Amino acid sequence: MKKILVTGGAGFIGSHVVRRFVNTYPNYQIINLDKLTYAGNLANLQDVESKPNYQFVKGDIVDADFIDNLFNQENVDAVIHLAAESHVDRSISNPIEFVMTNVVGTVNLLNTARNHWKNDQNKRFYHVSTDEVYGTLGETGLFTEETPYDPHSPYSASKAGSDHFVRAYHDTYRLNTVISNCSNNYGSHHFPEKLIPLAIHNIKNNKPVPVYGKGENIRDWLWVEDHARAIDVIFHQAKPGSTYNIGGHNEWKNIDLIRLLCKIMDEKLGRPDGTSTELISFVTDRAGHDLRYAIDSSKLQRELGWKPSLQFEEGLEKTVDWYLQNEDWLNDVTSGHYQSYYQQQYAGR
Ligand code: NAD
Ligand code: TYD
Repeated sequence: MKKILVTGGAGFIGSHVVRRFVNTYPNYQIINLDKLTYAGNLANLQDVESKPNYQFVKGDIVDADFIDNLFNQENVDAVIHLAAESHVDRSISNPIEFVMTNVVGTVNLLNTARNHWKNDQNKRFYHVSTDEVYGTLGETGLFTEETPYDPHSPYSASKAGSDHFVRAYHDTYRLNTVISNCSNNYGSHHFPEKLIPLAIHNIKNNKPVPVYGKGENIRDWLWVEDHARAIDVIFHQAKPGSTYNIGGHNEWKNIDLIRLLCKIMDEKLGRPDGTSTELISFVTDRAGHDLRYAIDSSKLQRELGWKPSLQFEEGLEKTVDWYLQNEDWLNDVTSGHYQSYYQQQYAGR
């Protein structure tokens, strides 16, 4: 039995990766290591928690002794590393936390893996990263695996730093590493501080939907289950030291995306067409806001045969359905001291 340590498995993308691996590979033992920050939620994994090949361990990747003990206890064969602080706005107000988890936490994991695995090329360290490390595009062009790194936010700088350390451990110590850089994900179990789930939450509750600046920034959206499938393919087939971009060929201006979402929400909630667009509220732009991200994932398609499975409109509708059918989840994660990041930081601006 192969033991795979998935870090950040209680988060948005991590929970989809854990679910996919637990259900697809009964011969793998999946250990979900997560600190359960505000973004981690074990309710995301209720459907797999009683499976014999799943186990949860609560812990912090910044704690080197803890990670070392875990590797001593469990004979870990591979790491799929997703644990991170992931929200750009939070990184602007608290960059140090991002350095700690995203850089120091990643180096702790690399170091422990290197010490335990020595040069065993059958062990694999898979680092999940973002297209934001490449910086911003103008009106044209796509990020390829050769695009130079040019991060602008503390979040993307911390992810770029972690990517560099992963490559350094491959080049210096021959650790069997793989990196993938993915575009913006959307789908179920997404914490309602990122654009799409925040907008769904606010429209549902008749609250303003904050659109930064003029809403002209562009993101390339990918269905989260397509990302989990790409991680599966890359984990099993990529060569040591390789990098793959993952993206949906699905660019949307924020304002167009929000208008489409408003239309879908009006239909689903039985409100007259145009009701939800009234909630759109243009607010002060994010500092250092990258204009456009767009991924060229042709290497992944060409070499490993992966391509996105879902049209955006269909995926967005499925996502809305999930949030409307899972009110308890949404109420739970937004209860207590929850305020959306925007409410906390920018209210009254
Ligand atoms: P998320 O914020 O939903 O989840 C992060 C998870 O990591 C949470 O469960 C949290 O509890 C856990 N965590 C945070 N700090 C930890 C620590 N110190 N020790 C252990 N666990 C810790 O994030 P996500 O959107 O699911 O992103 C997962 C990964 O994918 C991240 O590495 C992110 O950079 C990358 N990524 C995200 C996107 C996206 O669109 N969300 C796109 C490309 C890449
Ligand atoms: P977000 O979901 O935070 O992802 P990222 O910044 O990592 O791309 O934001 C997606 C886009 O939406 C980005 O251009 C910022 C913008 N945005 C808003 O306009 N309003 C919001 O309330 C949020 C959270 C984001």
